[in-house]
Amino acid sequence: MGNINILIVDDSKSALYALVRLLDSPETNIMTAADGLEGQDAVRRETFDLIITDVDMPNLNGLDLCQWIKENPETADIPVIVLSSRETDQDIENGFRVGANAYVPKSLADKELIPRVEAVMNRSSCVKDKTILVIEDSPSIQAFTKDGLEAAGFKVVLADDGQHGLDIIEEVVPDLVLTDLYMPNADGSVFCRKVFSMEQFRLLPVVVMSSMSDKPVMQRLIQDGATAFISKPFNIDMLVLTIEKILSDHFQTMLEERERLVVERKLTLGSISSLINALEARDKHTRGHSESVTMLSAAIGTELKLSNAQMTRLLIAGNLHDLGKIGVRDNVLLKPGKLTDDEYEHIKTHTVVVKDILAPLHDMEDILFAASSHHERWDGSGYPSGLKGNEIPLFGRIIAVADVYDALTSDRPYRNGMSKGKALAIISEGRNTHFCPVIVDAFFQYIEKLDDENTS
Ligand SMILES: [Fe+2]
Repeated sequence: MGNINILIVDDSKSALYALVRLLDSPETNIMTAADGLEGQDAVRRETFDLIITDVDMPNLNGLDLCQWIKENPETADIPVIVLSSRETDQDIENGFRVGANAYVPKSLADKELIPRVEAVMNRSSCVKDKTILVIEDSPSIQAFTKDGLEAAGFKVVLADDGQHGLDIIEEVVPDLVLTDLYMPNADGSVFCRKVFSMEQFRLLPVVVMSSMSDKPVMQRLIQDGATAFISKPFNIDMLVLTIEKILSDHFQTMLEERERLVVERKLTLGSISSLINALEARDKHTRGHSESVTMLSAAIGTELKLSNAQMTRLLIAGNLHDLGKIGVRDNVLLKPGKLTDDEYEHIKTHTVVVKDILAPLHDMEDILFAASSHHERWDGSGYPSGLKGNEIPLFGRIIAVADVYDALTSDRPYRNGMSKGKALAIISEGRNTHFCPVIVDAFFQYIEKLDDENTS
């Protein structure tokens, strides 16, 4: 939940004591007030993330306190949970009418309060500053929904019909769309169909509003991807609650989706490392090559001031740049002497094979492209595609320098590793022909820094 300031307002000392005990944790700072007036004083003095209030209290009751909080623009965003021993539908309705974010019967406080607090806090953080695109041809409904949604803390952008909505959606990038069904120039269902076919908005929550008689159409829309529908005429509080619920569920789903992707990425990287180990187990002379190339690529990336996200992907690309050698025959991969022309052609296929191995993995296009292009040359004379200059992706150009330098300075069965000076001279000679000049310069900056560190 993070560090949250909570105000609990109740005239019963024993109830306050029980509530403080229930909510006390290292993440909460709890203040108490004995009635609505004391509650108002506290709200004027302090900033709260959440207010929990009883209903029946002397001086100022909880519902009036809640209404006062919600009517003041400075405090309207603070979530309020009404906690009461009054449990009829009418009592609950009264709570929501004054703007409460949740209503918990006292008899259920033990079980329900903590989950309710978490849900309200989660909802208020995921609702804050969210943008709703309202598509509606009736000016009066436009005005009514805009006022209501803005009062609840949303940003609202209006469109007059489906086509207008489609025209501005890429600029607005809404968190949710509320659309009418029947409108001129692209109605709600045309809007839904078009918007869900746009990759960026595939998962966008869309709430469709229309009259009850459109139920079959609504059901079809929901099958097609609309999140919910709301029947006209609707009460603005119901609309706000519906939207808050959808956004908070959507937020939760997105968090879960992100978690799933992290796990999936870890599994993928684990499998790739195993493949690299399998490759290097076949050929002891290149053992550690992937690691050295990754390290050198990272050093060049640091000189180029790449972002953290780019660095992560560069490291993966460096690690698997030679993965395609899994498809190279032993008698060629492990051949101690010079390769024949045919054998050389065969070994060149590793830049293509890597694509086949990694193709099924999602979201790896840049890494795959980097691995398949590390033998391209700046002047266009490399392989497999003869890419030239900046046609070669940045990661491919970086790995090319790191790869050649490590290969030159490492021992091979048919020759000893070159001296550092000689290898550097070859890299320098290849600037503008074999290698991208910017990358060579970054590489030399790194080498100079390394030399300075070693001499100091
Ligand atoms: Fe290679």
